[in-house]
Amino acid sequence: MISFRDWMAKSVREYYRSDFRKDFFTAPELDRAFGYALASYMAEFIRGYPEPTLFELGGGSGILAYDILTYFREREPDLYSKLRYCIYDFSHELMDIQRHRLGEFEGKVFWTEKFFPLQGIVFSNEFFDCLPVHVIKGGKELFLDDALGEVWANVSDVRTMEVLKRMGYEDLFQVVEVCLDCLDFLKSVAENLLEGYHFVIDYGYTSKDLTRFPEGTLVGYRAHRLYSRPSEGMDITAHVNFSLLEEYGKDFGLERLVFTNLRDFLLQRPLFREELERLSLSDRPEDIERLSRLKTMLISMGERFKVLLQKKL
Ligand SMILES: C[S@@+](CC[C@H](N)C(=O)[O-])C[C@H]1O[C@@H](n2cnc3c(N)ncnc32)[C@H](O)[C@@H]1O
Repeated sequence: MISFRDWMAKSVREYYRSDFRKDFFTAPELDRAFGYALASYMAEFIRGYPEPTLFELGGGSGILAYDILTYFREREPDLYSKLRYCIYDFSHELMDIQRHRLGEFEGKVFWTEKFFPLQGIVFSNEFFDCLPVHVIKGGKELFLDDALGEVWANVSDVRTMEVLKRMGYEDLFQVVEVCLDCLDFLKSVAENLLEGYHFVIDYGYTSKDLTRFPEGTLVGYRAHRLYSRPSEGMDITAHVNFSLLEEYGKDFGLERLVFTNLRDFLLQRPLFREELERLSLSDRPEDIERLSRLKTMLISMGERFKVLLQKKL
């Protein structure tokens, strides 16, 4: 018998390390306007730093890094000349793909599997949702037997119960997912930020939305099909609990500056709005196609995705 948390950790690691048929489709893969909007936003926070680092958690195909670096090289040459970009990942297969895509930025971009002290911004898009969760219901935790059947037994880590208590979830009779790994990452981020920000984009919820997910938020994908039961070779994700990141962030010296949804965040970026306007006035087929991708981003991701910016005190 294995806890669902351990099984998810193993499955996600295997999924990203295998020669997977890619089942995820992220905002930067829809259009470069996403990465440009992020870059223009982050530029203002790092302008004063002598040697700023942009530290991306989970680089995926490297597309977000490519768009951010392109933006800085073209529109912020002074900042570009002093900045370094670091990708943190555990998948050597994906790191090879990232290196290939980012070849033209050799010397500017680095890879790491460890945190290190830095001044700048640690950021991620669709990283925290990959982290494994403990699944709890009525004081019991979900385990899986050898046939991946569900078994509910005593909790494997007392910290899950402490989290439920602190977050006020103790008496909820529903499935609650507790991501202790999110807290461990948050702590590492905070400890290594000498000065700077933590910036998270992901699909997620807050405590007040929790009752909308009585069966939890876990989903598994294989070959773009959605599976509700655990099976081998799946990409498994859980929505990110942003209230948890905010509450425990305080313990680690991270203060919330911004929390909003992706649609509002993007529509507040002048660059993104200008691009939307320009594309909507154009009749070039390529622009019409890009406009439709931006609308998909705003409509299908805009509400579900949240944006959190924390400052290291
Ligand atoms: C969905 S992809 C991110 C996509 C990318 N940020 C984008 O916007 O296109 C998740 C990435 O996080 C990495 N990852 C997932 N869990 C990780 C972990 N525990 N430690 C390090 N990297 C992890 C995966 O290898 C993959 O590169």
